[in-house]
Amino acid sequence: MMKVRIPASTSNLGSGFDVFGLALRLYLNVSIEPQPTGIQDMHFTGEGKEIVTASKTSNFITESLHQVFADRRLAVPGYRISVHNEIPVLRGLGSSGTAVLAGVIAANYLGKLEMTDNEILAEAVHIEKHPDNICPSYAGGLTAAVRLEDGSVLYRKWKFPTELMLVFVVPEFFISTKRAREVLPKSYPLKDIVFNLQRVSLLFEALYSGNYSLLKIVVEDRLHQPYRAPLIPGMGKILALNDGSLAYGIFLSGSGPTTCAITHPENAEIAGKKIADVFASEHINARIMPIKVDNIGVRISNK
Ligand code: HSE
Repeated sequence: MMKVRIPASTSNLGSGFDVFGLALRLYLNVSIEPQPTGIQDMHFTGEGKEIVTASKTSNFITESLHQVFADRRLAVPGYRISVHNEIPVLRGLGSSGTAVLAGVIAANYLGKLEMTDNEILAEAVHIEKHPDNICPSYAGGLTAAVRLEDGSVLYRKWKFPTELMLVFVVPEFFISTKRAREVLPKSYPLKDIVFNLQRVSLLFEALYSGNYSLLKIVVEDRLHQPYRAPLIPGMGKILALNDGSLAYGIFLSGSGPTTCAITHPENAEIAGKKIADVFASEHINARIMPIKVDNIGVRISNK
C-alpha cells in the first residue's frame, strides 16, 4: 500500500498571475492499494464529498490515473483508492491540482512506471494546466514555475517565512477556474502588464528582507483580479482593505472566490473577521481558515 499526502495551494499572490504559488498546511490524503485486474474502486470522504463521486469520469484523481495509462497505451491495473480531503473544492485553493497529482502518483506506483519528479510534474501540468498550483503542491513552499515549449516544467522553490500566517476567507459558493478564466481579456494594455511586472519584482525583497510592508504593493494586480471581482460579491470592498493596516497584503486566492490575507499570527483573527464581514454584508456565509505555508510538499510512504 502507498499513502500520499498532498498540500493545497494558493496561486498568483496578486501580481504573480500564473507564476507564483504557495503550498498550504491543508491536505488531500490518499491511500492506494493494488488489486487484481478489473477491480477499480474509490472511496471518498471529507470536503467536496457531495461533488466528487467514485465515477472515473467525474473526479480528477481516477481521471488522471487513467489518463497516464492511456497516454502510454497501457492497460489500467486494478486498484482500491481511499481519499480523505481537507481542501475546500472549487474555491481557489488548488484542490484540482492536488487531485491530479494524486492520480499521477498513484499511476506511477500501480504501473511501476518509474517516472522522475519532472515527468510527474509534466504529466500533472499537461492534465491540469496550472504549474502555479501543481509545483507548490508537489515541492512545498513558494514556487515560481514555467511550462517550457516541450511540455516540461521548470520551477524553483523557496522556503516561505514560517512567522507569517495566511488567513483564507472561503465563501460558500463555487467558481470553476474555467469560468474565472473566461472573463479575462484576450489582450492587455502595455501599462497594465508593466504595472504587474513592477510589483511582482518586489516579491523577494518583501518576503526575504523582512520588509513585509512592501507586500501591499506586491499583491496589487491589473491582470486578473479586476476582471474576476464582478463574479464575487464584495470583492471590490475586500481589495480596498489592502492598505497595509489590516494585513500585509490581501489578494484573491488563485481564481477565487476565496480571498487570502498575509498577516502576523496575532492579527489573523481580526483580518479574517473583517473580510468575512464584507461577505456577510452581501448575505454570503464564509469560513475563516488561518493556515501556515507547508514548506515540505508531497509526502509518500510505502507500507
Ligand atoms: N493561475 C491560475 C488562475 C490558477 O488564476 O487562473 C488557477 O487555479
